[in-house]
Amino acid sequence: MLKKTYTMQVFGCQMNERDAETLRGFLDELGYEEVEKAADADLVIMNTCAVRQKAEEKVFGRIGRLGKMKVDRPEMMIAISGCMVQQGEVAKKIKKNYPFVNLIFGTHNIAAFPELLQRAKESGETVLDLWEDAGEVVEGLPATRKDGIKAWVNITYGCNNFCSYCIVPYVRGRERSRLPGDIITEIKGLADRGYKEVTLLGQNVNSYGKDLEDDIDFADLLGRVDRETGIARVRFMTSHPRDFNEKLAKVIAAGESICEHIHLPIQSGSNRILELMNRGYSREHYLGLVEILQRHVPDCALSTDLIVGFPGETEEDFNQTLDIVEKVGFDAAFTFLYSPRQGTPAAELPGQVPSGVKKERFGRLLEVQNRWSLQRSEALIGKIEEVLVEGPSKTDARTLTGRTRSSKTVNFSGDDIRAGDIVRVEIVEARTWSLVGRIWLES
Ligand code: SAH
Ligand code: SF4
Ligand code: F3S
Repeated sequence: MLKKTYTMQVFGCQMNERDAETLRGFLDELGYEEVEKAADADLVIMNTCAVRQKAEEKVFGRIGRLGKMKVDRPEMMIAISGCMVQQGEVAKKIKKNYPFVNLIFGTHNIAAFPELLQRAKESGETVLDLWEDAGEVVEGLPATRKDGIKAWVNITYGCNNFCSYCIVPYVRGRERSRLPGDIITEIKGLADRGYKEVTLLGQNVNSYGKDLEDDIDFADLLGRVDRETGIARVRFMTSHPRDFNEKLAKVIAAGESICEHIHLPIQSGSNRILELMNRGYSREHYLGLVEILQRHVPDCALSTDLIVGFPGETEEDFNQTLDIVEKVGFDAAFTFLYSPRQGTPAAELPGQVPSGVKKERFGRLLEVQNRWSLQRSEALIGKIEEVLVEGPSKTDARTLTGRTRSSKTVNFSGDDIRAGDIVRVEIVEARTWSLVGRIWLES
């Protein structure tokens, strides 16, 4: 019998990527094979994101297009999962307006996916299953990871921070930490199977362990992963400035496998806006953390997230953001236009910034940040960097691509080098988004 086929489109952050690996694991067990195009698939899954309006609009557009395909292939199944449909009203809207969708399920019931799929197959109607509560952490679910080199590993689920603009706490539930033993065992297993790098995942990794009976915090866990698992490289994200501390900086400095890169979203440089955002720190506190980090890990790369046009943001507030970007000199920044999310406090605030103003500020911010990204890359010219090889470059098959410990992409050429190798590369050229290098042959 021919194998059933599926295709999956994943939106949003690494949490969704990681969940997609679990869904792929289930589908493998059910005998499905992954294909590229929806036109060749018996099942199309969209694992959705709700963090900004744009992400949601893309999904609606795509559901519409799939509906047209379904006219010719009514047996094709469509499943929609993830953060967007964890919002009950959005899930109901999809069920009502797109009745050809077979299955809608949220972020808390991924473990039930095989049964839900079965129910959807047997039912003539849309199966909609959302759980309000996240419940206990479920261990032991299957996972099909794609590259065999780098893996995402959850350490916490959910978020308790309720930043005033953010939908994540509503669609991912309260913060839950996995037990340290389960994390260590998973990473050991990955290292034994030849994986070279893990990224420990949480919306706020620094609050790891607060809900556990064990007396363990994130710095302790990171130290254990470094010492006990045998994995070559460890990364983690996202760090929250409120909970980042000197103990952690010391662990990063001491841990051989711990990569010298921190993603520490600042969001805004204005104390007034930070307060309205409910971020729980000031620009001075953030600058203090940067100083601690530089003292303990001098070659540490620092990236951030920035939101432009939060309600009430004045020109003066925005200048404070530009100023802190200049002061810190981030290696990279993800910059976002503020997007009102229904149900979050910020969406109700007065002084929503007009779209034109947001875009104009966004352009100015990007200009400053791009200059810094290039400058930080240029500082690496002439240096020898440790690079984990990912494979041939996407744009030029003769070139290899990989990442430095500081998480910068390097393109370089070399013979007899394979994906998964860790090599030394001399940096010869810097571009805003990547580096060019040549393999370093020690004499
Ligand atoms: N937990 C992480 C981030 C998760 S969401 C943290 O606290 O840093 C990723 C990024 O999306 C955020 O850092 C923020 O910059 C951005 N973001 C979240 N909600 C947004 C919104 N409503 N509009 C614009 N950007 C938003
Ligand atoms: Fe959202 Fe804030 Fe939680 Fe990050 S820490 S997921 S921005 S609420
Ligand atoms: Fe989006 Fe959900 Fe991540 S809302 S950013 S996919 S946690």
